[in-house]
Amino acid sequence: MEIYYYSFTGISKKLAESLSKFLNVKPKEIKTSSKPYFFWLLLSFIPYLPFKAYFEKPSSSTLVLCFPKWTFNCPPVTYFLKEITCENLFMIITYGGWGEKRYADFYRKLALKKIKKVEVFLVKKRKVLENITEVIEEIINWLNPCISSFGPQKIKKLR
Ligand SMILES: Cc1cc2nc3c(=O)[nH]c(=O)nc-3n(C[C@H](O)[C@H](O)[C@H](O)COP(=O)(O)O)c2cc1C
Repeated sequence: MEIYYYSFTGISKKLAESLSKFLNVKPKEIKTSSKPYFFWLLLSFIPYLPFKAYFEKPSSSTLVLCFPKWTFNCPPVTYFLKEITCENLFMIITYGGWGEKRYADFYRKLALKKIKKVEVFLVKKRKVLENITEVIEEIINWLNPCISSFGPQKIKKLR
């Protein structure tokens, strides 16, 4: 299993890093060129639009992907999904507080065009900031049945 993340303001990064610690893996960043907020805001209104991103090529069949909810589209993440292949994808989306279910549905359908099994977990930004331990616990419980069926993945005790 590999954990990837794209993060603009650090929330998805914080989550990916904490989760990685518990799963004993190194998080891999999806990087893109530095652009201001209004540039991304504008692009986020265009569904399916990819924007060139850089990342280590995945080598596992199971990936976890943490990224933010951006209006209708997060272009570096859309680019990542266009480029990669895997068998199982667990998407963790952090959001501010609105429109997250439609967005999750959009990305799930997009990923299902090429990936066999896709699951989505939504996390409110405020919860990551206020109680990350509880969020990690919930994510581990969500991932756990799938992880154990994928081999001897060692899950550390949360406390
Ligand atoms: C361009 C842009 C668009 C956003 N659009 C939404 C939105 O439509 N709904 C929402 O709940 N949050 C929205 N947010 C807030 C982010 O989803 C939220 O702050 C997220 O946790 C940030 O993750 P990050 O720190 O990993 O970038 C938006 C943020 C940005 C930068």
